[in-house]
Amino acid sequence: MYSDNNGNKEIEATEIIPNTKKVYIETYGCQMNVSDSEIVAGILNSAGFAMTDDIARSNVILLNTCSVRDNAEAKIFKRLQHLRQFKKSNSKLIVGILGCMAERLRSKLIGREGLVSIVVGPDEYRSLPEMLNHAFEGESGIAVKLSRVETYDDIIPLRTDGISAWISIMRGCDKFCSFCIVPFTRGRERSKSMPVIIKEAKELYENGIMELTLLGQNVNSYNDPDSNANFAQLLRLVAAAVPRMRIRYTTSHPYDMSDELIETMAEFDNICNFIHLPVQSGSDRILELMNRHYTADSFLERIKYIRKLMPDCAISTDIIAGYPSETAEDHQKTLELINKVRFDGAFMFKYSPRENTKSWDMPDDVPEAIKQQRLTDIINLQNNIAKEINRDERGNEYDVLVEGPSKKNKAEWQGRTSTNKVLIFPRAGEKIGDTVKVRVEGSTSATLFGKKI
Ligand code: 5AD
Ligand code: SF4
Repeated sequence: MYSDNNGNKEIEATEIIPNTKKVYIETYGCQMNVSDSEIVAGILNSAGFAMTDDIARSNVILLNTCSVRDNAEAKIFKRLQHLRQFKKSNSKLIVGILGCMAERLRSKLIGREGLVSIVVGPDEYRSLPEMLNHAFEGESGIAVKLSRVETYDDIIPLRTDGISAWISIMRGCDKFCSFCIVPFTRGRERSKSMPVIIKEAKELYENGIMELTLLGQNVNSYNDPDSNANFAQLLRLVAAAVPRMRIRYTTSHPYDMSDELIETMAEFDNICNFIHLPVQSGSDRILELMNRHYTADSFLERIKYIRKLMPDCAISTDIIAGYPSETAEDHQKTLELINKVRFDGAFMFKYSPRENTKSWDMPDDVPEAIKQQRLTDIINLQNNIAKEINRDERGNEYDVLVEGPSKKNKAEWQGRTSTNKVLIFPRAGEKIGDTVKVRVEGSTSATLFGKKI
C-alpha cells in the first residue's frame, strides 16, 4: 500500500499531469522483491505515474514475481487467471510481469492469459516508464538483460512502511548452490557504494524510520566498490552512523559468517540479536552435493561462536527436505542438527527442481510421499522446539518496537523484539514507532504475549 503522511492511499506523482496513470504493484517472494517493488515505485513515481492500492481502479497491474520453487510460479499463474476479470472491465489495462519469473521465462510470458504485455527482469527496472508508455500504444515489450553493475544507487525507493525500511546493499549471487535459481534470475554479485548506504541510513533515521534492514541475497559477500570494505565493516559504520536505529540484515551464508561479523554484532547494542542462517541440510553428503562449502560440524561451530558472544541471540534457518538422493539416514542427520541447534524459527521446504541449476540434472528421486513425510517430520520437530523456547521466554523483559495494532485484537499492539519475535501486549496510550518495555507472560510457537512494565 502506498500512503502519504495524511493517510491518503494514493500518491499523485504530480498535479500538473491530468489523467495520471495509476499503477498497482503486487509483490511475491523474498524481502529483496519487497525492496525492489519500492525501487520500481520510485522509478515510476518520478516518471509521472501514480501508485495505488486499489487494483480495480488501476491502469497498470505489475506482478513482482518469484521463481525459487515451482509452487511460487504456480501461484502467480493462478493469479493471472484471476486478473482477467479486470481486463474485461477495462480493455486498456496493462499487465506486466517483473522479477525472477520475468527473467526465467521471458518471451514465454508475453500474451499469457491474453493479458501480459510487458516482461521486465530485476536489472531493467529503469526502462519501465518507457515500456509502459509503449504498452499504452499497444506495443508489447521484454527487457531481461542482467547487469554486472546495476545497483539502483541513485534511485530513491518509494517506501511504504512507516517505521521499518530496507536498503538493498548488494544484488545477485555468485554462490551457485546446486538447487538455486537465483544466480540465473538475479545475475552476478555487485554491491552498492558504502557512502551511499550510510547517507541513505542517516536520511531514513531523520525521516522517522526506527528499524533498518540491510538486504542482499548473500550479504556476507558485500564488497564496497571503492574501498573494498567487507560486510562487517559496512555494518559497523552503519550501526555507528545511526546509533538510535535498530539494524538488521539478511541473508547470511554460513560459509561466510566471519568471526569479525559476529564480533561486530556483539559490540553494537543497536544491531539486533537475530541471525537468519540457512543450513539447508544436516547431512555432509547432501551439503556437498548442494555445493554449500560447509559441514554440519562447521555450521555447529559457527552457532557456538555466535552463542558464546551473544548468548541471547535468536537464530533462524532454511531447510530443504527431499533433495535428490537424500536417504533416511541423511534425513535423520537433518533432524539431529535441528535438535542440536534448537533454532528459534525456520522456513522449511520440499525440494523443487529448477531448470538450469546443477541439481536439475540429478534425478528428483525422493518419492513425493516420502518428501512430504520428511517435511512434516522437520516441521513438527521445529515447531515443538520453537514452542519450548518461547515457553521459556516467560518472565523475560524486552524492548518492543511497536509496529501497529494486533491483527486479531485492535485493543492490543503488535511489535517486535530485537530477537525478531512478535510480541503482543495491551495498548495504553503508546503510538506506532515507540519502544516499550514489555514482560513476557505467555506464548505459542510463533508469538509472545506480554504486559508493559
Ligand atoms: N527447492 C526448495 N527450496 C529451495 N530454496 C531455494 N531453492 C530451492 C529449491 N529449488 C530455499 C532455500 C533457500 C530459500 C530462500 O529457499 O532453503 O535458503
Ligand atoms: Fe541461492 Fe545459494 Fe545464492 Fe542463497 S547463497 S541465493 S541459496 S545460490
